[in-house]
Amino acid sequence: MPAEPKTATTPPDEIFRIEQVGKRYGNFDALSDVSFSIRRGTIHGLLGENGAGKSTLVGIISGQKTATSGHVQFDGERIDAKDVRTMENAGVFLVTQEPMIIDHLSAAENLMLGIWPQSRGFVRWRKLRADADRMLAGTEINPAMQAGSLDAVARRKLNILRAMFSGGKVIILDEPTAALTVDGRKQLFDFMRRLKGEGVTFIFISHYNDEILDICDSVSVLRDGKLAGGSDDVSAMTSEQLSELVLGRGLKLFQRKRRDVAAMPVAITISNIRSSHVNLDQLEIHKGEILGFTGLPGAGAKELARCLFGLVPSGSGTIRFHDGDDTAALPQSPAEAFKRGIAFLSDDRRRDGAVSQMAIGRNISLSSLATVSRWGFLNRAAEAHLSARYFASMGIKAASAEAAVDTLSGGNQQKVCLGRVMATDPRLLILDEPTRGIDVGVKQDVLQIIDDLTAQGVCVIIVSTDTDELFRAADRVCVFGGGQLRREFRGAEITIDTLRDSMGEA
Ligand SMILES: Nc1ncnc2c1ncn2[C@@H]1O[C@H](COP(=O)(O)OP(=O)(O)OP(=O)(O)O)[C@@H](O)[C@H]1O
Ligand SMILES: [Mg+2]
Repeated sequence: MPAEPKTATTPPDEIFRIEQVGKRYGNFDALSDVSFSIRRGTIHGLLGENGAGKSTLVGIISGQKTATSGHVQFDGERIDAKDVRTMENAGVFLVTQEPMIIDHLSAAENLMLGIWPQSRGFVRWRKLRADADRMLAGTEINPAMQAGSLDAVARRKLNILRAMFSGGKVIILDEPTAALTVDGRKQLFDFMRRLKGEGVTFIFISHYNDEILDICDSVSVLRDGKLAGGSDDVSAMTSEQLSELVLGRGLKLFQRKRRDVAAMPVAITISNIRSSHVNLDQLEIHKGEILGFTGLPGAGAKELARCLFGLVPSGSGTIRFHDGDDTAALPQSPAEAFKRGIAFLSDDRRRDGAVSQMAIGRNISLSSLATVSRWGFLNRAAEAHLSARYFASMGIKAASAEAAVDTLSGGNQQKVCLGRVMATDPRLLILDEPTRGIDVGVKQDVLQIIDDLTAQGVCVIIVSTDTDELFRAADRVCVFGGGQLRREFRGAEITIDTLRDSMGEA
């Protein structure tokens, strides 16, 4: 989309105009000379690879960040250097990429944060509770619950609901679906369409082409901080065209050469798991297998993965590594799991302490150093080597491995977390939503790296609701329902449709 010429008057249907916006950190340009406009009452997609500048740009639009150069016009007025509060009062709400939740407040209070019903300066608690109850009806979230004890999906939902019920004119969603379930995503889209009908404008950031094609009217694409293109008619585009616009080249999708598990030696046997959320008689994992776990939330996929890593104490259950190890009880702590060669990537990188002000390199070797994560043993000699290897192979975008992780873009933080668990050289690698937040190009690289690990005999469990990812990477997929293993698909039985259908049925 070419930069529009400056005009004295604003077209009536233009709600935002971004004019030659730049953002500089030190001597790095996160954004340079970005210009485009957004029409009122539309859903405008903002696309780009990890680190392209999407979050930075919406941070500027919403008053979170200040541009180094250029201007932003909102509703015909310049809004340079405004703060979040002012922008929210003007009707612009940003749902940030990482959930923003105040742990010690209740779910209801978080929901109404800053939009609390007030009467002469006093918060009207009764009304707050009533409003929150109404908004949370139909979700699984208890309004009185302390927000700190909510899971990642619930925390995300709270942020989205807050923006949706704010009465705002513009709602900006930075990768909202990355933490939602299939159902949550559908609800969100229905809700967006309804609000759009009432004249609300959306800016929508996502790495999923199907979502962009489904919900967006128009798109703008950033590449290395510059505007790379766009379209005012997304309905005329294909997924391939979107990828090409984002990457500046064609995309080659990863496809694992699926292995026939029947012909592979068994490496791990898990037996008799009885915990509050999972019941499993027996599951065998083969040497070098990629095993998918999927299902709706609470169905048991995530719960079993957490059990195996000792994050949830299991009442009973054993795990046997066939190469030398005797059958032993399931690990009762991550430290124990780690000692037995089990590594785990959490779906909630902020909570599990992955992201900090530490340097990227140190973060990668963290699990091997057993500091923040509190498990494992010291392996300082290998640290530099490991960090360098994964920093390069994951294609982490940063000035150097010395840069602090919290200055990285969301997707690049995810790559650091992935590098970290892979670097521990595990026998069993458990990855919960490994490519969440990762752009479509890097996603292929990540799946390739996992594929390479299995060539060395590592067993991998991928917990995922991304059916496309399971289809491309897994040798076998277990579908969970009601805490039990309901169905199993292998080889050619694994298709996106069969997975999607069976998830709902299980
Ligand atoms: N405080 C900061 N200091 C230095 N660099 C920063 C800072 N904040 C962001 N950056 C850099 O600016 C670039 C753009 O980051 P941004 O978060 O906008 O990317 P993004 O398009 O949202 O990517 P993703 O898809 O991974 O979320 C990145 O290279 C990032 O490392
Ligand atoms: Mg981002």
